[in-house]
Amino acid sequence: MRAFGLFLALFCTTAFARLDCKVPHLGGGGDDGPAINAAFERCAKNGKVVLDQYYSVDTLLFTTGLDDVEIELSGTLQYTPDIAKWSPQSYFLTYQNATTFWFLSGNNIHLYGGGTIDGNGQVWWDAFAANPNAGTAGGSSRTFARPIPLTVGNSTNVVVEDITEIGSPFWNNFVYQSSNVTYSNITINTVSYSSSPTANSDGWDIYRSDGVTITNSWINNDDDCVSFKPNSTNILVSNLWCNGSHGVSVGSLGQYAGETDIVANVTVFNVSMNNAQNGARIKVFGGNPSPNSTAGGGTGFVRNVTYADYSVSNVDNPIIIDQCYETSAATCKEFPSTLTISDVHFINVTGTSSGKEKDVVVDMECSAQCTDITASGTNITPPSGSPAFVCANIASESELDFACTAPA
Ligand SMILES: *[C@@H]1O[C@H](CO)[C@@H](O)[C@H](O)[C@H]1NC(C)=O
Ligand SMILES: *[C@@H]1O[C@H](CO)[C@@H](O)[C@H](O)[C@H]1NC(C)=O
Ligand SMILES: *[C@@H]1O[C@H](CO)[C@@H](O)[C@H](O)[C@H]1NC(C)=O
Ligand SMILES: *[C@@H]1O[C@H](CO)[C@@H](O)[C@H](O)[C@H]1NC(C)=O
Ligand SMILES: *[C@@H]1O[C@H](CO)[C@@H](O)[C@H](O)[C@H]1NC(C)=O
Ligand SMILES: *[C@@H]1O[C@H](CO)[C@@H](O)[C@H](O)[C@H]1NC(C)=O
Ligand SMILES: *[C@@H]1O[C@H](CO)[C@@H](O)[C@H](O)[C@H]1NC(C)=O
Ligand SMILES: *[C@@H]1O[C@H](CO)[C@@H](O)[C@H](O)[C@H]1NC(C)=O
Ligand SMILES: *[C@@H]1O[C@H](CO)[C@@H](O)[C@H](O)[C@H]1NC(C)=O
Ligand SMILES: *[C@@H]1O[C@H](CO)[C@@H](O)[C@H](O)[C@H]1NC(C)=O
Ligand SMILES: *[C@@H]1O[C@H](CO)[C@@H](O)[C@H](O)[C@H]1NC(C)=O
Repeated sequence: MRAFGLFLALFCTTAFARLDCKVPHLGGGGDDGPAINAAFERCAKNGKVVLDQYYSVDTLLFTTGLDDVEIELSGTLQYTPDIAKWSPQSYFLTYQNATTFWFLSGNNIHLYGGGTIDGNGQVWWDAFAANPNAGTAGGSSRTFARPIPLTVGNSTNVVVEDITEIGSPFWNNFVYQSSNVTYSNITINTVSYSSSPTANSDGWDIYRSDGVTITNSWINNDDDCVSFKPNSTNILVSNLWCNGSHGVSVGSLGQYAGETDIVANVTVFNVSMNNAQNGARIKVFGGNPSPNSTAGGGTGFVRNVTYADYSVSNVDNPIIIDQCYETSAATCKEFPSTLTISDVHFINVTGTSSGKEKDVVVDMECSAQCTDITASGTNITPPSGSPAFVCANIASESELDFACTAPA
């Protein structure tokens, strides 16, 4: 026993010779934000930040320059429900006017611990329902920012696991300008307890990031379960249970005129999509004549995207490609999108649609031609009647395992 204790002591001092920064909590409504920021500064190199209490956070968490840092979040980190304070002080991230409560940045970061991040979103949802103040395509606005509880930004080699996220006012997670980021065993639950619905509670949004893995997670929310925003490359999404969402979505892309958006090398497999608006979705804005448009007109490509072993239950649009997203049919006709969609594969998408689109279970409508779109093992049934499959401008109709009909 003594020998074992000695061994443990040696092991701990050699293998775990990290500086520990345990963050105390003030209690009594005090703001724990400054102590958290200070702990990250102290333990920024080869350190370990321990968040094992309940923390009330009223100050922007800006934890940058981290290098080989462990973050044990076994307690609860709750942001204060103060719109007047947070809307201006949250950190602005430009894309869709997104802002964040916590900008976590560095190299070799491991966040884990079984704890909870509580966005305290109810006040935001209530205010948003009473006076909708949004940007384009569900984005935030400059005058009413709804911050993101956790942003992994400008980072490399990050693992986030075993964490619960509740009450997000906006997107739950933003992967921003980062590479090699893995999320595993994340529980996301965004539920409103008033008559106002939650809003834009995407599970993850990925932007200008490469090498992102999201796996083994449970998500109950109202908007995209996972969304691949501009310049998401080499992405793996697997083993998710999503409920109430808008699906696993590529896009929206092509929103900003003069900008090039790329989504490439995406594999999504073993996803269970329940009670959702969409299953597997690709959304791209149409063209736009204005050189300054923030509602379409961008260019780029979506290439090499696979959705496999994807089960849907009570989903409005199990498979949907829309290359005229949030754009009028007339504008799309005159200015088809120049953001191309190719090499997209749907393998074993099975289950039931909700019947919201009557018998239509697949809807692929390109404003310019989409190429190399294939489907195999498709088996989706509407609540009544036989399934219908709508396609427009799909060059590879013969590689779909269903018979297309033209849009009505
Ligand atoms: C950003 O917010 C401004 C002002 O609140 C709004 O006009 C603009 O449309 C928003 N931008 C986007 C891309 O949503
Ligand atoms: C993130 O990286 C971009 C591009 O390198 C840089 O302009 C920006 O200042 C960085 N932001 C932060 C908060 O580190
Ligand atoms: C990706 O990050 C993980 C976790 O930090 C690390 O173990 C791995 O070596 C990284 N991969 C690359 C290619 O850098
Ligand atoms: C997932 O995380 C929870 C805490 O959120 C933990 O209790 C559970 O053991 C983890 N599961 C696995 C397989 O590690
Ligand atoms: C598929 O994902 C579910 C979680 O939604 C998981 O329980 C199951 O083990 C996964 N199946 C495989 C074959 O990995
Ligand atoms: C799943 O979503 C439905 C519809 O939004 C909701 O009624 C139900 O409570 C959700 N289930 C869970 C387990 O959260
Ligand atoms: C996406 O990547 C392309 C190619 O590297 C680049 O030209 C474009 O500016 C990037 N777009 C965004 C939104 O970062
Ligand atoms: C996609 O993957 C292929 C094969 O690994 C690679 O050559 C290509 O560079 C990747 N594309 C992007 C945009 O990362
Ligand atoms: C397509 O993307 C997957 C990763 O999602 C990658 O393994 C594969 O090499 C890519 N194929 C091509 C042709 O780029
Ligand atoms: C686009 O923006 C530029 C620079 O802000 C401005 O000079 C130009 O007049 C704008 N063009 C249109 C069509 O709005
Ligand atoms: C699709 O389903 C078939 C039949 O169940 C199975 O043989 C095949 O391995 C599945 N494909 C993928 C990519 O999972």
